[in-house]
Amino acid sequence: MGNARPPAGGPTILAMNTWPGVIGRYRDWMELAEDVEAVTLLEGNTPLVPLPRQALALGAAALYVKYEGLNPSGSFKDRGMTAAISMAVHDGAQAVICASTGNTAASAAAYAARAGLRCIVLVPRGKVATGKLGGALAHAAEVIQVEGSFDQALAMVTELTLERPIALVNSINPYRLEGQKTAAFEICDTLGRAPEWLALPVGNAGNITSYWMGFKQYDQTRKTGLPRILGVQAAGAAPLVLGHPVDQPETAATAIRIGRPARGPQALQAASESGGRIIAVSDEAILEAQTDLARDGLWVEPASAAGLAGLKHEVASGALELAGATVVCVCTGHGLKDPDAITSRAPEPRVIPADMNSLRALIDS
Ligand code: F0G
Repeated sequence: MGNARPPAGGPTILAMNTWPGVIGRYRDWMELAEDVEAVTLLEGNTPLVPLPRQALALGAAALYVKYEGLNPSGSFKDRGMTAAISMAVHDGAQAVICASTGNTAASAAAYAARAGLRCIVLVPRGKVATGKLGGALAHAAEVIQVEGSFDQALAMVTELTLERPIALVNSINPYRLEGQKTAAFEICDTLGRAPEWLALPVGNAGNITSYWMGFKQYDQTRKTGLPRILGVQAAGAAPLVLGHPVDQPETAATAIRIGRPARGPQALQAASESGGRIIAVSDEAILEAQTDLARDGLWVEPASAAGLAGLKHEVASGALELAGATVVCVCTGHGLKDPDAITSRAPEPRVIPADMNSLRALIDS
Protein backbone atom coordinates (compact mmCIF):
# COMPACT_ATOMS: atom_id res chain seq x y z
CA MET A 1 0.00 0.00 0.00
CA GLY A 2 2.89 2.34 0.86
CA ASN A 3 3.62 3.51 -2.66
CA ALA A 4 0.11 3.15 -4.09
CA ARG A 5 -0.87 6.35 -5.84
CA PRO A 6 -4.37 7.73 -5.31
CA PRO A 7 -6.55 7.15 -8.36
CA ALA A 8 -7.14 10.23 -10.53
CA GLY A 9 -10.50 11.95 -10.61
CA GLY A 10 -12.60 14.63 -9.00
CA PRO A 11 -14.48 12.67 -6.37
CA THR A 12 -11.24 11.38 -4.88
CA ILE A 13 -9.81 14.88 -4.71
CA LEU A 14 -12.91 16.11 -2.94
CA ALA A 15 -12.92 13.18 -0.57
CA MET A 16 -9.40 14.11 0.51
CA ASN A 17 -10.54 17.64 1.40
CA THR A 18 -13.24 18.54 3.87
CA TRP A 19 -13.59 22.02 2.37
CA PRO A 20 -15.08 21.96 -1.15
CA GLY A 21 -14.47 25.62 -2.14
CA VAL A 22 -17.01 28.41 -1.97
CA ILE A 23 -19.38 27.07 -4.63
CA GLY A 24 -19.36 23.62 -3.06
CA ARG A 25 -20.01 25.11 0.36
CA TYR A 26 -22.50 27.90 -0.41
CA ARG A 27 -24.05 26.89 -3.70
CA ASP A 28 -27.61 27.12 -2.36
CA TRP A 29 -26.99 30.76 -1.47
CA MET A 30 -25.50 31.74 -4.82
CA GLU A 31 -27.29 32.70 -8.02
CA LEU A 32 -25.51 30.49 -10.53
CA ALA A 33 -26.85 28.19 -13.23
CA GLU A 34 -28.15 25.04 -11.56
CA ASP A 35 -26.02 22.75 -13.70
CA VAL A 36 -22.80 24.74 -13.41
CA GLU A 37 -19.70 22.71 -12.61
CA ALA A 38 -17.35 24.41 -10.20
CA VAL A 39 -13.91 25.37 -11.46
CA THR A 40 -12.29 25.59 -8.06
CA LEU A 41 -8.94 25.80 -6.30
CA LEU A 42 -10.72 25.18 -2.98
CA GLU A 43 -10.72 28.91 -2.26
CA GLY A 44 -12.38 30.46 0.79
CA ASN A 45 -12.49 29.15 4.36
CA THR A 46 -9.94 31.80 5.33
CA PRO A 47 -9.22 32.30 9.03
CA LEU A 48 -10.67 35.02 11.21
CA VAL A 49 -7.54 35.88 13.18
CA PRO A 50 -8.04 37.63 16.53
CA LEU A 51 -5.79 40.64 17.18
CA PRO A 52 -6.21 41.44 20.88
CA ARG A 53 -3.52 44.14 20.92
CA GLN A 54 -5.21 46.08 18.13
CA ALA A 55 -8.60 45.59 19.81
CA LEU A 56 -7.21 47.14 22.98
CA ALA A 57 -5.66 50.05 21.08
CA LEU A 58 -8.99 50.77 19.36
CA GLY A 59 -11.08 50.28 22.50
CA ALA A 60 -13.05 47.47 20.85
CA ALA A 61 -14.27 44.31 22.58
CA ALA A 62 -12.69 42.18 19.86
CA LEU A 63 -10.92 42.74 16.56
CA TYR A 64 -10.49 40.06 13.93
CA VAL A 65 -8.74 40.02 10.61
CA LYS A 66 -10.46 38.10 7.82
CA TYR A 67 -7.19 36.98 6.27
CA GLU A 68 -8.06 36.82 2.60
CA GLY A 69 -4.43 36.69 1.53
CA LEU A 70 -4.59 32.97 2.34
CA ASN A 71 -6.72 32.25 -0.72
CA PRO A 72 -5.01 30.13 -3.42
CA SER A 73 -3.77 33.02 -5.55
CA GLY A 74 -3.12 35.21 -2.51
CA SER A 75 -6.16 37.48 -2.56
CA PHE A 76 -9.93 37.60 -2.05
CA LYS A 77 -10.42 37.71 -5.82
CA ASP A 78 -10.46 33.90 -5.93
CA ARG A 79 -13.92 33.79 -4.33
CA GLY A 80 -15.42 35.74 -7.19
CA MET A 81 -13.23 34.16 -9.82
CA THR A 82 -14.35 30.59 -9.11
CA ALA A 83 -17.91 31.76 -9.82
CA ALA A 84 -17.08 33.90 -12.88
CA ILE A 85 -14.87 31.27 -14.53
CA SER A 86 -17.27 28.42 -13.74
CA MET A 87 -20.09 30.36 -15.39
CA ALA A 88 -17.88 31.37 -18.33
CA VAL A 89 -17.20 27.67 -18.98
CA HIS A 90 -20.89 26.87 -18.48
CA ASP A 91 -21.84 29.51 -21.05
CA GLY A 92 -19.34 28.16 -23.59
CA ALA A 93 -16.64 30.84 -23.40
CA GLN A 94 -13.24 30.04 -24.90
CA ALA A 95 -11.52 33.15 -23.55
CA VAL A 96 -11.76 35.57 -20.64
CA ILE A 97 -10.41 39.09 -20.16
CA CYS A 98 -10.05 41.61 -17.36
CA ALA A 99 -8.45 44.90 -16.48
CA SER A 100 -6.58 44.78 -13.22
CA THR A 101 -4.36 46.49 -10.71
CA GLY A 102 -2.86 43.00 -10.33
CA ASN A 103 -4.80 40.68 -8.07
CA THR A 104 -7.75 40.12 -10.39
CA ALA A 105 -5.24 39.34 -13.15
CA ALA A 106 -3.41 36.73 -11.07
CA SER A 107 -6.67 35.15 -9.96
CA ALA A 108 -8.24 35.13 -13.45
CA ALA A 109 -5.03 33.60 -14.80
CA ALA A 110 -5.08 30.80 -12.22
CA TYR A 111 -8.74 29.84 -12.71
CA ALA A 112 -8.60 30.21 -16.50
CA ALA A 113 -5.55 27.92 -16.53
CA ARG A 114 -7.47 25.38 -14.48
CA ALA A 115 -10.38 25.56 -16.92
CA GLY A 116 -8.20 25.55 -20.05
CA LEU A 117 -9.41 28.98 -21.18
CA ARG A 118 -7.42 31.67 -22.93
CA CYS A 119 -6.85 34.52 -20.47
CA ILE A 120 -6.00 38.11 -21.39
CA VAL A 121 -5.24 40.72 -18.73
CA LEU A 122 -4.71 44.46 -19.12
CA VAL A 123 -2.70 46.17 -16.40
CA PRO A 124 -1.53 49.75 -15.91
CA ARG A 125 2.12 49.77 -16.96
CA GLY A 126 4.62 50.14 -14.11
CA LYS A 127 1.95 50.15 -11.38
CA VAL A 128 1.51 46.46 -10.67
CA ALA A 129 3.24 44.78 -7.73
CA THR A 130 5.77 42.04 -8.57
CA GLY A 131 3.90 39.13 -6.99
CA LYS A 132 0.74 39.90 -8.96
CA LEU A 133 2.43 40.21 -12.33
CA GLY A 134 4.36 37.05 -11.47
CA GLY A 135 1.13 35.20 -10.78
CA ALA A 136 -0.47 36.24 -14.07
CA LEU A 137 2.65 35.21 -15.98
CA ALA A 138 3.08 31.94 -14.09
CA HIS A 139 -0.35 30.80 -15.19
CA ALA A 140 0.45 31.86 -18.76
CA ALA A 141 -2.07 34.67 -19.09
CA GLU A 142 -1.49 37.07 -21.99
CA VAL A 143 -0.42 40.14 -20.07
CA ILE A 144 -0.86 43.50 -21.82
CA GLN A 145 0.55 46.62 -20.20
CA VAL A 146 -1.47 49.75 -20.88
CA GLU A 147 0.15 53.18 -20.92
CA GLY A 148 -2.61 54.53 -18.75
CA SER A 149 -4.69 53.91 -15.66
CA PHE A 150 -6.71 50.93 -14.46
CA ASP A 151 -9.84 52.92 -15.27
CA GLN A 152 -8.79 53.33 -18.90
CA ALA A 153 -7.93 49.64 -19.14
CA LEU A 154 -11.34 48.73 -17.72
CA ALA A 155 -13.09 50.92 -20.30
CA MET A 156 -11.07 49.19 -23.03
CA VAL A 157 -11.85 45.62 -21.97
CA THR A 158 -15.51 46.48 -21.48
CA GLU A 159 -15.74 47.78 -25.04
CA LEU A 160 -13.79 44.84 -26.45
CA THR A 161 -16.14 42.29 -24.88
CA LEU A 162 -19.07 43.96 -26.67
CA GLU A 163 -17.28 43.29 -29.96
CA ARG A 164 -15.71 39.88 -29.34
CA PRO A 165 -16.88 36.58 -27.83
CA ILE A 166 -14.68 37.01 -24.77
CA ALA A 167 -16.10 36.86 -21.25
CA LEU A 168 -15.42 39.83 -18.99
CA VAL A 169 -14.37 38.72 -15.50
CA ASN A 170 -14.06 42.08 -13.77
CA SER A 171 -16.50 42.68 -10.91
CA ILE A 172 -18.96 44.24 -13.36
CA ASN A 173 -19.67 40.54 -13.96
CA PRO A 174 -22.44 39.68 -11.46
CA TYR A 175 -21.04 36.20 -10.76
CA ARG A 176 -17.96 37.82 -9.21
CA LEU A 177 -20.20 39.32 -6.53
CA GLU A 178 -22.00 36.01 -6.03
CA GLY A 179 -18.65 34.48 -5.17
CA GLN A 180 -17.26 37.30 -3.10
CA LYS A 181 -20.31 37.59 -0.85
CA THR A 182 -19.39 34.19 0.60
CA ALA A 183 -16.81 35.94 2.79
CA ALA A 184 -19.69 37.57 4.68
CA PHE A 185 -21.29 34.12 5.10
CA GLU A 186 -18.06 32.73 6.51
CA ILE A 187 -17.70 35.58 9.00
CA CYS A 188 -21.26 34.97 10.28
CA ASP A 189 -20.70 31.20 10.37
CA THR A 190 -17.56 31.68 12.47
CA LEU A 191 -18.80 34.38 14.84
CA GLY A 192 -22.36 33.06 14.96
CA ARG A 193 -23.54 36.54 13.94
CA ALA A 194 -22.43 39.62 12.04
CA PRO A 195 -19.86 41.89 13.72
CA GLU A 196 -20.83 45.43 14.75
CA TRP A 197 -18.34 46.90 12.26
CA LEU A 198 -16.67 45.62 9.10
CA ALA A 199 -13.77 47.68 7.73
CA LEU A 200 -12.30 47.11 4.28
CA PRO A 201 -10.44 48.81 1.44
CA VAL A 202 -12.43 50.16 -1.50
CA GLY A 203 -11.07 50.31 -5.05
CA ASN A 204 -13.36 49.36 -7.89
CA ALA A 205 -16.00 48.82 -5.18
CA GLY A 206 -17.00 45.23 -6.01
CA ASN A 207 -15.97 43.84 -2.66
CA ILE A 208 -17.85 46.25 -0.40
CA THR A 209 -20.91 45.66 -2.59
CA SER A 210 -20.49 41.89 -2.27
CA TYR A 211 -20.09 41.92 1.51
CA TRP A 212 -23.23 43.98 1.95
CA MET A 213 -25.16 41.61 -0.33
CA GLY A 214 -23.89 38.66 1.67
CA PHE A 215 -24.67 40.05 5.11
CA LYS A 216 -28.18 41.08 4.04
CA GLN A 217 -28.90 37.72 2.44
CA TYR A 218 -27.77 35.77 5.52
CA ASP A 219 -29.67 38.06 7.86
CA GLN A 220 -32.91 37.51 5.96
CA THR A 221 -33.01 33.81 6.75
CA ARG A 222 -30.52 33.25 9.54
CA LYS A 223 -31.10 36.47 11.49
CA THR A 224 -27.36 37.01 11.85
CA GLY A 225 -27.75 40.79 12.02
CA LEU A 226 -25.99 43.45 9.97
CA PRO A 227 -22.65 45.19 10.45
CA ARG A 228 -21.95 48.84 9.86
CA ILE A 229 -19.49 49.10 7.01
CA LEU A 230 -16.45 51.34 6.97
CA GLY A 231 -15.09 51.52 3.42
CA VAL A 232 -11.62 53.00 3.12
CA GLN A 233 -10.02 54.64 0.10
CA ALA A 234 -6.52 56.04 -0.27
CA ALA A 235 -6.50 59.85 -0.13
CA GLY A 236 -4.92 60.07 -3.60
CA ALA A 237 -7.57 57.78 -5.09
CA ALA A 238 -10.76 58.70 -3.25
CA PRO A 239 -13.49 59.40 -5.80
CA LEU A 240 -16.25 58.14 -3.49
CA VAL A 241 -15.19 60.51 -0.75
CA LEU A 242 -14.63 63.48 -3.07
CA GLY A 243 -17.89 62.84 -4.91
CA HIS A 244 -16.30 62.94 -8.37
CA PRO A 245 -13.99 60.79 -10.51
CA VAL A 246 -10.23 61.17 -10.09
CA ASP A 247 -8.44 61.24 -13.44
CA GLN A 248 -4.95 60.57 -12.15
CA PRO A 249 -5.25 58.50 -8.99
CA GLU A 250 -2.03 57.99 -7.04
CA THR A 251 -1.31 55.84 -4.00
CA ALA A 252 1.32 53.49 -2.67
CA ALA A 253 -1.57 51.03 -2.26
CA THR A 254 -1.50 50.23 -5.98
CA ALA A 255 -4.31 47.66 -5.67
CA ILE A 256 -6.79 50.50 -5.03
CA ARG A 257 -5.27 53.07 -7.38
CA ILE A 258 -8.66 53.60 -9.02
CA GLY A 259 -10.40 56.86 -9.93
CA ARG A 260 -13.68 55.68 -11.46
CA PRO A 261 -15.01 52.74 -9.45
CA ALA A 262 -17.36 50.65 -11.57
CA ARG A 263 -19.60 49.90 -8.61
CA GLY A 264 -19.28 53.30 -6.94
CA PRO A 265 -23.00 54.00 -6.47
CA GLN A 266 -23.55 50.55 -4.94
CA ALA A 267 -20.63 51.08 -2.60
CA LEU A 268 -22.04 54.38 -1.37
CA GLN A 269 -25.42 52.71 -0.92
CA ALA A 270 -23.90 49.81 1.04
CA ALA A 271 -22.09 52.19 3.35
CA SER A 272 -25.08 54.43 4.01
CA GLU A 273 -27.68 51.65 4.22
CA SER A 274 -25.51 49.90 6.80
CA GLY A 275 -25.16 53.05 8.89
CA GLY A 276 -21.47 53.24 8.05
CA ARG A 277 -19.45 55.40 5.67
CA ILE A 278 -16.61 55.61 3.18
CA ILE A 279 -13.59 57.62 4.23
CA ALA A 280 -10.11 58.38 2.88
CA VAL A 281 -6.80 57.93 4.69
CA SER A 282 -3.26 58.96 3.76
CA ASP A 283 -0.66 56.58 2.36
CA GLU A 284 1.33 57.12 5.55
CA ALA A 285 -1.61 55.88 7.62
CA ILE A 286 -2.03 52.86 5.34
CA LEU A 287 1.65 51.92 5.57
CA GLU A 288 1.62 52.42 9.34
CA ALA A 289 -1.35 50.04 9.62
CA GLN A 290 0.53 47.58 7.41
CA THR A 291 3.38 47.73 9.93
CA ASP A 292 0.96 47.28 12.86
CA LEU A 293 -0.44 44.13 11.28
CA ALA A 294 3.02 42.80 10.50
CA ARG A 295 4.06 43.35 14.12
CA ASP A 296 1.15 41.09 15.05
CA GLY A 297 2.34 38.44 12.62
CA LEU A 298 0.15 39.22 9.63
CA TRP A 299 1.91 40.42 6.49
CA VAL A 300 -0.60 41.96 4.13
CA GLU A 301 -0.13 44.11 1.06
CA PRO A 302 -0.52 47.89 1.57
CA ALA A 303 -4.11 48.20 0.26
CA SER A 304 -5.16 45.43 2.62
CA ALA A 305 -4.18 47.52 5.61
CA ALA A 306 -6.54 50.34 4.62
CA GLY A 307 -9.37 48.92 6.75
CA LEU A 308 -7.30 49.05 9.94
CA ALA A 309 -5.92 52.47 8.95
CA GLY A 310 -9.49 53.71 8.58
CA LEU A 311 -10.54 52.37 11.97
CA LYS A 312 -7.53 53.96 13.65
CA HIS A 313 -8.26 57.26 11.92
CA GLU A 314 -11.89 57.32 12.98
CA VAL A 315 -11.21 56.28 16.57
CA ALA A 316 -8.38 58.82 16.95
CA SER A 317 -10.55 61.65 15.63
CA GLY A 318 -13.41 60.73 17.94
CA ALA A 319 -15.70 59.94 14.99
CA LEU A 320 -15.99 56.31 16.05
CA GLU A 321 -16.59 54.70 19.45
CA LEU A 322 -16.01 50.95 19.53
CA ALA A 323 -16.64 50.10 23.20
CA GLY A 324 -18.25 46.67 23.39
CA ALA A 325 -18.04 46.20 19.62
CA THR A 326 -16.79 43.21 17.68
CA VAL A 327 -14.93 44.47 14.64
CA VAL A 328 -13.72 42.64 11.54
CA CYS A 329 -11.03 44.04 9.28
CA VAL A 330 -10.86 42.47 5.84
CA CYS A 331 -7.24 42.04 4.77
CA THR A 332 -7.67 41.43 1.08
CA GLY A 333 -4.26 40.37 -0.19
CA HIS A 334 -1.07 38.74 1.09
CA GLY A 335 2.07 40.75 1.76
CA LEU A 336 4.04 38.49 -0.57
CA LYS A 337 2.16 40.11 -3.43
CA ASP A 338 4.13 43.29 -2.97
CA PRO A 339 7.48 42.58 -1.30
CA ASP A 340 8.96 45.82 -2.67
CA ALA A 341 6.56 47.81 -0.49
CA ILE A 342 8.57 46.48 2.48
CA THR A 343 12.11 46.13 1.13
CA SER A 344 12.07 49.66 -0.29
CA ARG A 345 11.25 51.08 3.17
CA ALA A 346 13.30 48.75 5.38
CA PRO A 347 17.00 49.34 6.09
CA GLU A 348 19.35 47.09 4.13
CA PRO A 349 20.10 44.01 6.28
CA ARG A 350 23.61 44.09 7.73
CA VAL A 351 26.46 42.22 6.08
CA ILE A 352 29.23 40.41 7.92
CA PRO A 353 32.12 38.19 6.86
CA ALA A 354 31.50 34.48 7.40
CA ASP A 355 33.30 34.24 10.74
CA MET A 356 32.06 33.73 14.29
CA ASN A 357 33.83 36.70 15.83
CA SER A 358 32.05 39.09 13.48
CA LEU A 359 28.75 37.45 14.35
CA ARG A 360 29.43 37.68 18.12
CA ALA A 361 30.52 41.30 17.83
CA LEU A 362 27.36 42.19 15.95
CA ILE A 363 25.01 40.32 18.28
CA ASP A 364 26.62 41.83 21.41
CA SER A 365 26.83 45.37 20.04
N1 F0G B 1 -7.59 45.05 -1.83
C1 F0G B 1 -6.87 44.46 -2.77
C2 F0G B 1 -5.65 43.73 -2.37
C3 F0G B 1 -7.26 44.55 -4.13
O1 F0G B 1 -6.53 43.95 -5.06
C4 F0G B 1 -8.42 45.28 -4.46
C5 F0G B 1 -8.85 45.39 -5.85
C6 F0G B 1 -9.15 45.87 -3.42
C7 F0G B 1 -8.70 45.73 -2.13
C8 F0G B 1 -10.39 46.64 -3.67
O2 F0G B 1 -11.46 45.82 -4.00
O3 F0G B 1 -11.97 46.75 -6.22
O4 F0G B 1 -13.58 45.28 -5.04
O5 F0G B 1 -13.15 47.58 -4.22
N2 F0G B 1 -8.18 45.00 -6.83
C9 F0G B 1 -8.66 44.98 -8.22
C10 F0G B 1 -7.69 44.23 -9.11
C11 F0G B 1 -9.08 46.30 -8.74
O6 F0G B 1 -7.64 44.49 -10.30
O7 F0G B 1 -7.01 43.35 -8.60
P1 F0G B 1 -12.62 46.37 -4.92
